[in-house]
Amino acid sequence: SDGALPYVPARGGIPALRRAAADCRGCPLYENATQTVFGAGPARARLMLVGEQPGDQEDRAGEPFVGPAGRLLRSALGEAGLDEDQAYFTNAVKHFKFAPVTEGRKRRIHKAPSLGELTACRPWLAAELRGVDPELVVALGATAGKSLLGGSFKVTESRGALLPLTPGTDLPLATGEESDGDRRLLATVHPSAVLRSKDRDEAFAGLVSDLRVASRFLG
Ligand code: URA
Ligand code: SF4
Repeated sequence: SDGALPYVPARGGIPALRRAAADCRGCPLYENATQTVFGAGPARARLMLVGEQPGDQEDRAGEPFVGPAGRLLRSALGEAGLDEDQAYFTNAVKHFKFAPVTEGRKRRIHKAPSLGELTACRPWLAAELRGVDPELVVALGATAGKSLLGGSFKVTESRGALLPLTPGTDLPLATGEESDGDRRLLATVHPSAVLRSKDRDEAFAGLVSDLRVASRFLG
């Protein structure tokens, strides 16, 4: 299947993309989720942050990074000297995927997207990259990194470094994608991983330290 590609409008910028994504049926994830959670922030931004997929609260609100992971991320951005209001936030996958709801639980438990779902949803991320045209993309965790740089990407090997953002060969960003010569990518851990970490302070400091590289790059 072509995934999201047939749903992506050729023109109209980020607002048109957001409207069209609301009706995407490029993979089965729309069936159980509440709504598409598209990117949010200025339609032109120097910094784009890419997470994995919306969580429980994002699915209900229709906005990325409004739950616990988002709060932690915003606080890390602030500590690193980055202005969250000037950043564009999005996810590699735009629908919430969750395990069957078990009784007595308020929050639905997130499930990692499959490689097929990641690939299906990539045309939206590629279109956001073209539209927002950021100087720096921060990949939050392995899923975002794989979507942006290819399936063999590993956070532990590349975190904190300014990498060229050249489309991966096994997961091309989009068919016919022009090359993005001077765009950079910086990978770091996912804020949810910080929340789950045994030493949360240390994990948070690591996230802030990576984001300071972004802050210095953007000047
Ligand atoms: N985790 C993500 O990766 N994205 C969100 O929007 C929220 C939590
Ligand atoms: Fe479309 Fe992505 Fe949602 Fe799948 S997850 S239906 S590709 S927006």
